[in-house]
Amino acid sequence: MIEEMLAAHSVLVKVFLGFLVGGLFIPMMTAKNPLGFRKASFIYTMIFQAIATMIAFAGIVAVFAGDLGWSVTTIIMVVVWAVLMYIEIKKYKLIKIANLQNEDAHKLLKGAFLKISSVQILLVVIMVILMILKAKGVVTI
Ligand code: HEM
Repeated sequence: MIEEMLAAHSVLVKVFLGFLVGGLFIPMMTAKNPLGFRKASFIYTMIFQAIATMIAFAGIVAVFAGDLGWSVTTIIMVVVWAVLMYIEIKKYKLIKIANLQNEDAHKLLKGAFLKISSVQILLVVIMVILMILKAKGVVTI
C-alpha cells in the first residue's frame, strides 16, 4: 500500500514535470491568438491542479498509512506544493481577468506565463534532486 502510493507519487511527479515543460509551448503557440491563449490556459490550469492534487493525495496517504511522520523533506514538499498551487492560481486569475485583446497585456502575460512555468519547473527539479540526494544518503534531513 505505502510502496504503491510512493511509486504513484514518484510517477506523478515525473508526469507533472513533463506537463510543465509541455506547457511552455502554450504562450508560444498562441502568440497571435489571445482567445486561444486564454482557453489553453484554462485547460492547462485544470490539468495542473488535478495532477498536483493527486501528488499531494498520494503523498499524504503514504505519510499516514505508512506512519512515515513529517520529516524535513516531507515538510519542504508540502511548502513547495503550496507555492506551486498559489502561483498557478494567481497566474490563471490574471489571464482570466485581463483584456487580452490589448496587445501589451497579452504580451505581458505571455512573458509571465513563461517565467512562472520556469520557476515551477525549477522548484520541481530541485525537489527531485533533493530526494535523489536523500535516497543516496548525501543529504540526511
Ligand atoms: C502535500 C504534498 C506532499 C506530500 C505529503 C509528500 C510526501 C512524500 C513522502 C512521504 C515521500 C517519501 C519520503 C521519503 O522517502 O523520505 C515523498 C517522496 C517524494 N516526493 Fe513528495 N510529497 C508531497 C509533494 C511533493 C511535490 C510537490 C513534489 C515535487 C515537487 C514531490 C516530490 C517527491 C519526490 C521526487 C519524492 C521521491 C520519490 C522517489 O522515491 O522516487 N512531493 N513525498
